[in-house]
Amino acid sequence: MRLSGPGASVREVADDAAIAFEHVSKSYASDRGASGAAVDDLSLAVSPHEVLVLVGPSGCGKSTTLRMANRLVEPTSGRIMLEGEDVTSVEPVGLRRRMGYVIQNVGLFPHRTVAQNVATVPGLVGWDRKRTAARVEELLALVGLDPDRYARRFPHELSGGERQRVGVARALATDPPVLLMDEPFGAVDPVGRRRLQTEFARIQRALGITVMLVTHDIDEAVRMADRVAVLSTGARIEQLASPLDVVARPATPAVADLVGRGRTARLLALGRLERPDLDPPVQDGTAAPLVLGVELGDVLAALVGANGPLPVHDEHGRVVGSATPATVVRALDRLTEPDDETNGTTADGPALGTLRT
Ligand SMILES: Nc1ncnc2c1ncn2[C@@H]1O[C@H](COP(=O)(O)OP(=O)(O)O)[C@@H](O)[C@H]1O
Ligand SMILES: [Mg+2]
Repeated sequence: MRLSGPGASVREVADDAAIAFEHVSKSYASDRGASGAAVDDLSLAVSPHEVLVLVGPSGCGKSTTLRMANRLVEPTSGRIMLEGEDVTSVEPVGLRRRMGYVIQNVGLFPHRTVAQNVATVPGLVGWDRKRTAARVEELLALVGLDPDRYARRFPHELSGGERQRVGVARALATDPPVLLMDEPFGAVDPVGRRRLQTEFARIQRALGITVMLVTHDIDEAVRMADRVAVLSTGARIEQLASPLDVVARPATPAVADLVGRGRTARLLALGRLERPDLDPPVQDGTAAPLVLGVELGDVLAALVGANGPLPVHDEHGRVVGSATPATVVRALDRLTEPDDETNGTTADGPALGTLRT
């Protein structure tokens, strides 16, 4: 079902969206009349259960956008809808309960224990002690922190990655349908960061939560997102599309710039082997076959260890062709070919993307 596109109104999209920005602008007092708005007429709908990642250079308005959603910042104009309800009509405590918020360096309360930090919002909304304690235990386990070891520690007794986990647990405490994350893994070292990204993706899928995540790191964006919105100054949407489309078919020079370096490596991780890429079948009884749909990076890795073409099977184990280095090049060509169907949004296109069904 295609809900949006040139013919669809902002209104139609907002009805189905977990969160929707409708012509939202924000001018801070200091930039009125000067450099333009921090957020300039942003319209964007996040579908239920999707991970939408906003990526763009520092100062382009990512944090302002998130902070307007939970009303830490009030828009100058426009409207933000949470599950069809104008956020300005939801009372603040209710908003905190329905929208978790995770920021870089977490912002844990330093003089409260891990358990007390996680219990912040349940405390605000008046849960009793027993229910809160059970929830805290459950959440710490969910984010990979043993409650017996961690519940009574203070934030300074944790590593950066552990603090970030506590931040996620705290944001999830009241089971909010929507989670806002602002550079959530930014303060963690690269290895810990990869692990947190993987674990968070698992938690997100398990809970089916809707996530709006902000990052300046294109690799984090394409790894985490169902859809990526590439922003430029004023939170203007350069492209709104799947990670593969953004990397393979940048819609504007600004997007091309962002994905340019290391683009091939990203395509190898995102692209998959398809039938039209294949070379003719070969007779080789010994080599382990590849299966259609395998990641291109894995095809390349397998070819590095092989002396020649590798057989390729379909999902039923039938030989459908072979893979050579030329196969991989063809796949990359296929992925980067201009697409006739417009996927996602370009700077000239509609400001609202396609909602998935
Ligand atoms: N509280 C504020 N007062 C005045 N200007 C601000 C404030 N917060 C952000 N800005 C300005 O708004 C623009 C967008 O900032 P921000 O949303 O923090 O960008 P990002 O998160 O993409 O780095 C920047 O030019 C920034 O200087
Ligand atoms: Mg920011």
